[in-house]
Amino acid sequence: MASLTDEISRRRTFAIISHPDAGKTTLTEKLLLFGGAIHVAGAVKSNKIKKTATSDWMEIEKQRGISVATSVMGFNYGDYKINILDTPGHQDFAEDTYRTLTAVDSVIIVVDVAKGVEQQTRKLMEVCRMRNTPVIIFVNKLDREGRDPFDILDELEAELKIAVRPLSWPINIGAKFKGVYNIYEQSLDLFTPSKTQVTERVEIDSVDDPRIDEAVGEKDAAKLREDLELIEGVYPEFSSDDYLAGKVAPVFFGSALNTFGVKELLDCFVKIAPSPRPVKAEERMVEPAEEPFSGFVFKIHANMDPNHRSCIAFVKVCSGKFERNAPYRHVRSGKTMRFAAPTAFMAQKKSVVDEAYPGDIVGIPDTGSFKIGDTITQGEDLHYRGLPSFSPEMFKYIENTDPMKAKQLDKGLQQLMDEGVAQLFVNQFNGRKIVGTVGQLQFEVIQYRLLHEYGATVRWEPLSMFKACWIESDDPAALEAFKKRKHQFMAIDREGRDVFMADSNYVLQMAQNDFPKIRFHFTSEF
Ligand code: G4P
Repeated sequence: MASLTDEISRRRTFAIISHPDAGKTTLTEKLLLFGGAIHVAGAVKSNKIKKTATSDWMEIEKQRGISVATSVMGFNYGDYKINILDTPGHQDFAEDTYRTLTAVDSVIIVVDVAKGVEQQTRKLMEVCRMRNTPVIIFVNKLDREGRDPFDILDELEAELKIAVRPLSWPINIGAKFKGVYNIYEQSLDLFTPSKTQVTERVEIDSVDDPRIDEAVGEKDAAKLREDLELIEGVYPEFSSDDYLAGKVAPVFFGSALNTFGVKELLDCFVKIAPSPRPVKAEERMVEPAEEPFSGFVFKIHANMDPNHRSCIAFVKVCSGKFERNAPYRHVRSGKTMRFAAPTAFMAQKKSVVDEAYPGDIVGIPDTGSFKIGDTITQGEDLHYRGLPSFSPEMFKYIENTDPMKAKQLDKGLQQLMDEGVAQLFVNQFNGRKIVGTVGQLQFEVIQYRLLHEYGATVRWEPLSMFKACWIESDDPAALEAFKKRKHQFMAIDREGRDVFMADSNYVLQMAQNDFPKIRFHFTSEF
């Protein structure tokens, strides 16, 4: 039987992130094809929200429902056990994606060669940077006209604020695209535009091999050699330590749709990407190979059926072996719990699992005992630090329209916030509740769910707000003075932390100037 350390070292848990339409779904599907988890293209449902449906969020939830099935995709590839964590495509659910990033050990970023780095990718990269998550970049759609690869590399560096190192190099692009030279393995793969056919490989000894000239023509071969020389001159040699430290991102070029460059990416990925890493709890660092089990809830997916207020809590195993029906401690409540029906998705099939190892994700059916960020252990009082909340982008006052249902509203609101649907603040001046989200859709989701699941009716009142800033100071008197002066704009978050609600960038800048002893944070963890 494989030991705990064997199980850990063969696991690769990661997420693919991209701006919508760059090719995340296509790439995921191709990886699953290589892993034998699916056998035909088109088997993975895109969880991309169709553009036509943006005003109809019920439809979106239906589409999101589909994505529960693909929330975690586990499959074996050679000796490796791979877990891909899916992230929602719609930007209004960006919080979900941020949280998913707390449960992965590395990330693959997909960038469209014609569009370059887009807004959502930039933001997600910030989260990776905060956590030093190792990233690999896949530049996609080389079969289409796009930018010069050197320009793309410069842009990746500038926009994603990370050093890059190409590990493969395209020979032309668009209609003239001929293939990719694999720098990592020193091999040449020729492009055959086909959705099913796998790459044709040309065996070569070195970049000077005349077989390259035969395969792509003298002119392109000369250009390739020139490019490679430039790369060797400009970019330091690839260092996997730097990659693991989140300091450099290896870059691959290809076309997901044509299954081109995908296997190369995967083969390199399993070699260089980290197996589950130690996880920081408030108390100490926890090594995955520690015998006692521990894990945390990083995502809760609600069931949209109002008659069953049930959901699935997704738990990332951080250390030890998780076992079905074993008594575990739910640290926040201090209760002992046994999980009779934990599930996992393996090769697209959902099944009850008896055990899971660090890096794995188990789905636990739940009726409201879990909150995002909850830690479960074999007894130790550990608290894994979740992802900080980011300042929401949109704010509204939430008003109860049925005084008889105040209790239901409180309960519902609490539950939805536990699930991480949005953030709740209470203004300390007028006592009004403020809900903050990253997109308009969440307000609709909350209103609908409060009514259908809790029988509470609410109304939104507009609130023009720029940002929520968590504040702190080493000088308690300065903090008090600030809170007094800004009392109308002070709120507390659900943990009781002080938050300054700045209504404009100008106001915020003025406050920063006027109160140099106060530190303003745009995330709740500092
Ligand atoms: P996403 O999950 O990141 O949002 O992107 P997705 O994979 O759904 O891909 C977005 C569109 O880009 C899809 O086309 C897909 O077929 C196309 N695409 C992905 N990879 C490549 C590639 O390497 N080359 C080219 N030329 N296109 C690519 P669509 O028309 O929006 O959808 P569909 O009807 O083809 O599924």
